[in-house]
Amino acid sequence: MQFDIITLFPGIFESYLSESILRNAVEKGYIHVRFHNIRDWANDKHLTVDDRPFGGGPGMVMKVDPVVPCVEAVQQMEEDPGHLVLFTPQGRTFNQRIAEELVQEKRILLLCGRYEGFDQRVYDLLRPDEISIGDYVLNGGEVAAMVVLESIMRLIPGVLGDEDSAKVDSFSEGNRLLEEEQYTRPREYRGLSVPEVLLSGNHQEVDKWRMQNRIERTQERRPDLLDQ
Ligand code: ADE
Repeated sequence: MQFDIITLFPGIFESYLSESILRNAVEKGYIHVRFHNIRDWANDKHLTVDDRPFGGGPGMVMKVDPVVPCVEAVQQMEEDPGHLVLFTPQGRTFNQRIAEELVQEKRILLLCGRYEGFDQRVYDLLRPDEISIGDYVLNGGEVAAMVVLESIMRLIPGVLGDEDSAKVDSFSEGNRLLEEEQYTRPREYRGLSVPEVLLSGNHQEVDKWRMQNRIERTQERRPDLLDQ
């Protein structure tokens, strides 16, 4: 799967992509990640990418001029222009269902803004899939892009070891329950013991306990998931 990340700060992604599962996914060729710096498309001598908003008000707006030609050039780098995602708090709220939808794409462009957002004509001309990762405001789309990239790539068959991928994650299609409590050695720590049933060796009883534990935890912490 091809990811094209369009940003003013490609350096933010460096260490993130060079560690652990993501590094492995890149090295094994499950994902290809390219970076495109919006500033490379700025066309004045100061390499301006933002400007004051018409009508006044605080902050700066990302200019339509470098952004649209930059995205179009990236789209045209391949025959498949790809699925364009733009990160903004005004977008649809990201969740596991959207990750499952996006993993079907062959190529995804992740457009990260900074400052107070993009000139409206960026939206009008590019018609992006606008995504928010939650009801809070970040300094820019880069962290959101990492969230979305990570949740998509772990759905690509082979990226996680068999052990992990066999597990049906919470929030995935057909699973609206939280995970059960987990224990590993030691059996007792500071007076807290592992539930007896997990040590019993009785797989049927273990499965029953796990399902019961998941239902109880979901009822207690996320009753909204049971209503869906
Ligand atoms: N950019 C700023 N805040 C954001 C958010 N919550 N989600 C996605 N992109 C953003």
